[in-house]
Amino acid sequence: MSYESNFVDDQLRKLIADYLESEGIVADVGFFVGETSNLYHKYESQIYDRKQKSISNSAKVWKKSLLNICSHLPDRFSLLDFGCGTGFAADIFMSIFGRRVEKLVCFDLSSDMVSICREKLSSRYDTKMIFLEGESGLEKLSNQNFDVVLTNAVLHHLLDLHVFLERLDRLLAPGGIYVMGHEPNANFYRNKSLIKITKRFGTYKRFKWRLSLDYVLQKLKIRSGARGLAQLTNNGLRSRGLIERDIPEFMIRKLVDIHVPSGIDRPQPWGLNGFSKEFVLDALQELDLVCFVSYDHIKDSHVKESWIWSLVEQHLSKKYPDDGSDCLMIFRKKN
Ligand SMILES: C[S@@+](CC[C@H](N)C(=O)[O-])C[C@H]1O[C@@H](n2cnc3c(N)ncnc32)[C@H](O)[C@@H]1O
Repeated sequence: MSYESNFVDDQLRKLIADYLESEGIVADVGFFVGETSNLYHKYESQIYDRKQKSISNSAKVWKKSLLNICSHLPDRFSLLDFGCGTGFAADIFMSIFGRRVEKLVCFDLSSDMVSICREKLSSRYDTKMIFLEGESGLEKLSNQNFDVVLTNAVLHHLLDLHVFLERLDRLLAPGGIYVMGHEPNANFYRNKSLIKITKRFGTYKRFKWRLSLDYVLQKLKIRSGARGLAQLTNNGLRSRGLIERDIPEFMIRKLVDIHVPSGIDRPQPWGLNGFSKEFVLDALQELDLVCFVSYDHIKDSHVKESWIWSLVEQHLSKKYPDDGSDCLMIFRKKN
């Protein structure tokens, strides 16, 4: 890993430090981002399986893509789901390869996520499973390696991406497989036609949303949405004495979804403009790409709004196969 990669992470820390200073927040950037992310995911864990439709919709992409690795897997293997959340990726993997999994380790910084994951997976599979949480869990991972490592929708939350990639290098056994699921795709954010049509779709969706029951329930504070999560996160930060006034919802989201580009509607305060295979391969030259899949060519089009949008989505996915808004990549470490 080069000096340049550390520079990218340092630059990101500096941008966030400047923002915190402008809000009068005195705290170490790593600590503050960690606390914000943990609080957000703690509250999100309670609604996660119900609300995260974009992730549950990527299940079919996962299942299809995993066919590409059958020939690379040993008869019996160890599996790590890093940033497991409520267990989405581990569950899909186990439903396909369960009998061959010798040991499954699920790790997340959020203990609330891990306890839902533990309950769900323990009731479904009788493989040897270990559940690790928080900094102490991360510590326990430090002297282990695995034949397969999964992350789903995790990298875009990471402040020190290169620290994670170095860790990944140690976590993967020689010949091991890394599946990086559901990350924002850099190709999409460079494709002006897709951005334009996504903006139109956004206008249409906002109009429909205001007519929905969910909108009314959230307005009446009977049901919580992303705005509710931002408010709960602000309350948590305030009760820990970390802030004196609320951070705007958009910035809470940016502190949590650090590398999800906000470029569709407004300028990006910090973070990568999506992920590319080159980014990972440049950082970890021991990896070879096995497969790259992109989906949702109109961002968030998994919410099937109407048959017209579905037809447009189908057309775009044929025209720009690699430019969907989200992507899944599979890598194999050299022997
Ligand atoms: C969007 S959720 C994805 C969860 C799960 N992988 C899935 O596919 O449903 C992101 C998860 O990453 C976890 N996370 C955030 N930062 C992390 C870090 N530095 N190390 C490990 N997990 C982290 C969060 O607690 C959360 O559970």
